[in-house]
Amino acid sequence: MIASPQPPAPSPRLPIIAIDGPSGVGKSTLSKLLASELGYINLDTGAMYRTVALAAERHGIDLDDAAALGRLANAVVIDFARKAGSEQVLLDGADVSAAIRTPEISLLTSKVSACPAVREAMVRRQRELGARGGFVLEGRDIGTVVFPDAEVKFFLVASAEERGRRRFLELQAKGVGVDLAKTVAEVEARDAADSGRAHSPLRRADDAVTIDTTARGIDQILAEMLTIVRSRQGVS
Ligand code: DC
Repeated sequence: MIASPQPPAPSPRLPIIAIDGPSGVGKSTLSKLLASELGYINLDTGAMYRTVALAAERHGIDLDDAAALGRLANAVVIDFARKAGSEQVLLDGADVSAAIRTPEISLLTSKVSACPAVREAMVRRQRELGARGGFVLEGRDIGTVVFPDAEVKFFLVASAEERGRRRFLELQAKGVGVDLAKTVAEVEARDAADSGRAHSPLRRADDAVTIDTTARGIDQILAEMLTIVRSRQGVS
């Protein structure tokens, strides 16, 4: 009997690192640093939802029209580029990095990201992008929905006051006129919406490592995360 040739074994993908948590816990900073240390690609999934919200605003789409939002989320072209050392978010080829970070778009994004059709479109894209692994993805549902089989999952937390203060300083540095108490209140309201929504709410995965970033420096936290990542089998 002649043995039939075996199909080639699927090549194992590189590891995925999921970083979830509410706004202002340091996800973006730590994801970028971790990805850079490991030679992985960093994917800011919040920027994708923000870009859909900006596109919805520009097209005058009614946020209650779930079908229109879903069509938009499937149609928009979102890209990430690196220019002069900084990362850019592109909407249909145009740089929208600053436009997606205003308090108005933050609020709009919280609503847009609650739409199941938008989430389905974004999750599909995120899975396609990260399919070969070697990615650090940051968001709200990475360890629970997008890559529930991620090799390492972190859930970052910090007090609401500290998260609001960080957001305030960030906006101030960008020249956006903001009020501290209002920023703290906005951060809390947005987190309540992200945690309370019906579809893929912000939730800690059972197997995620929780890290409180309230009173610790970035270097210390990064070192802890790297130790955890390197202690996992398959992650170099
Ligand atoms: O991380 P961020 O602040 O840029 O996120 C913007 C909004 O998008 C926030 O309201 C939560 C939402 N989001 C989400 O629902 N799921 C993700 N994976 C990432 C962000």
